Amino acid sequence: MTFDRSIKIAPSILAADFANFGAECEAIEAQGADWVHVDVMDGHFVPNISFGPTTCAAIRPHIKGVMDVHLMISPVDPYIDAFAQAGADIITAHVEAGPHIHRTLQAIRGAGAKAGVALNPGTPAEAVAHLLDITDLICVMTVNPGFGGQKFIDMTDKIKTLRAMIGDRPIHIEIDGGVDVKTAPGVAQAGADVLVAGSAVFRGGSVTDPAPYGDNIRAIRTAAQGVYV
Ligand code: DX5
Ligand code: ZN
Repeated sequence: MTFDRSIKIAPSILAADFANFGAECEAIEAQGADWVHVDVMDGHFVPNISFGPTTCAAIRPHIKGVMDVHLMISPVDPYIDAFAQAGADIITAHVEAGPHIHRTLQAIRGAGAKAGVALNPGTPAEAVAHLLDITDLICVMTVNPGFGGQKFIDMTDKIKTLRAMIGDRPIHIEIDGGVDVKTAPGVAQAGADVLVAGSAVFRGGSVTDPAPYGDNIRAIRTAAQGVYV
């Protein structure tokens, strides 16, 4: 099977109703989400706390597709098994989270999940140059992680560099932070295939009125795909 480089929209449940995660996950999938992006924050690596592996396990039965877990925590390694057992399909760790990202990615694969590596805006593409054979996804942060709803930081050159480095390898490029109809075309054109969007997906909708989620997802997808037309 050929590697899927088509555009995938991954709503971040950081922008969902925290009292209704199960229903929110079902709503965004019903409205066309490709993956569900789950932001884990520890109040140490980033200046905010969200939730941990117990919450991931609780929402897993409400997600039919890919559960994409973004760990903004340090250290990472002691928690890998817990997130894998919670049912994460992809576990992404930050290259800045510790001195042994190579070991961390090996451990994620060893736990049975796909291994992702995330780069903060200040970290160059070259930080992953020696990790490509043990990586399934590179997450390019287009905000400084910690909060939803922040202003997009242009990382076009980094995305292009990574796309060239990846070549034919089966590695996704994911963009996370400030993705909306305006910013999606540029990142898609530069080579990204997974677009995380929190506020731009959940804006205007709710579990009792989920249709706006679908409108938002379609608008972002159309904007991103438009660059190929
Ligand atoms: C930032 C998170 C992102 C964020 C995306 O720390 O990793 O996933 O919630 O939210 P928006 O799309 O609102 O920037
Ligand atoms: Zn994220």
